[in-house]
Amino acid sequence: MDSFSATSARMPALRSSISEDPGRYRVLTGERPTGQLHLGHYVGTLRERVRLQDAGVETFVILADYQVITDRDTAGTVRENVYSAVLDYLAAGIDPARSTIFTHSAVPELHQLFLPFLSLVTEAELHRNPTVKSELLASGRALNGLLLTYPVHQAADILFCKGDLVPVGKDNLPHVEVTRTIARRFNERYGEVFPVPEALITESPELPGLDGRKMSKSYGNTITLAMSEDETARRLRSAPTDSERTISYDPDSRPGVSALLDTAAVCSGRSPQDIAEELGDKGSGALKALATDAVNEHLRELRRRRAALDVADAVEVLRSGNQAAREIAIDTLDETRAAMGMQY
Ligand code: TRP
Repeated sequence: MDSFSATSARMPALRSSISEDPGRYRVLTGERPTGQLHLGHYVGTLRERVRLQDAGVETFVILADYQVITDRDTAGTVRENVYSAVLDYLAAGIDPARSTIFTHSAVPELHQLFLPFLSLVTEAELHRNPTVKSELLASGRALNGLLLTYPVHQAADILFCKGDLVPVGKDNLPHVEVTRTIARRFNERYGEVFPVPEALITESPELPGLDGRKMSKSYGNTITLAMSEDETARRLRSAPTDSERTISYDPDSRPGVSALLDTAAVCSGRSPQDIAEELGDKGSGALKALATDAVNEHLRELRRRRAALDVADAVEVLRSGNQAAREIAIDTLDETRAAMGMQY
């Protein structure tokens, strides 16, 4: 059984255990601040984080800024992206009184865990990671040391706070596997310090970008959470469709039309087929209008809350989140060094 099927098989039991005893778990999850957060993030992971938080699970959200430079030359607009993501989090319902939002670069002790962790994996294991391989290919660059080792770095992200529940998309599963391996090997070698975390696979299917390809900032096929309703309408109006007037759901032969149906569906809680049937032969103009209304309606409250916030709020949330994360990292690093006999 591959790790996706194995993890999927554990999901029902894991989900019921979480709802029975949410206080038993600590969630660590997050993302690379490479661009603005979009509708795919919202329906895929953000809502799930809010649900876990609201169910009473202690939650940590990392903005992995050092991970931005794994596959590109510069950190680009990382600071803007970080602030924007924090505002999206707050608007989506992540509550800084209950959840800790922090950035990689502000927690030096987290990175020191990376050193002993690196000693626990072989070069062959690093090279075998399928997500690293596909990111390397997509980058069109030579493999650098940080890209090769970032799954180990991600283990430090998770284990510094002893996170034992990691909500991730499918592409991050190999990294949770690496984390589990590292936790086990560390504990075997030096004594019990780290939990062996579980991946929590997001239930909602991946939302395609407006052209039917993977939703990605670099394809210009996203609807960001920060967009205004007019910008959303414009983005949807320029989405590629076809000249066939009858709307039907067929992702393989009609990727653009089907992506618009998926988008409208995820925002209205209906099925894409049902929406296609309602539209009949009204053409793609009507489909775009319907999708625009569905998206704007779905994001209205979030955007209203977002508009009431500004960068100063993000700065403040990060200041206290970074401090809280750092205090935990200091303790875990102390414990780690003590286990290794490196306390002087
Ligand atoms: N690799 C994740 C992504 O692709 C971001 C990330 C960094 C992360 N550290 C993490 C996710 C720890 C979960 C846990 O977006």
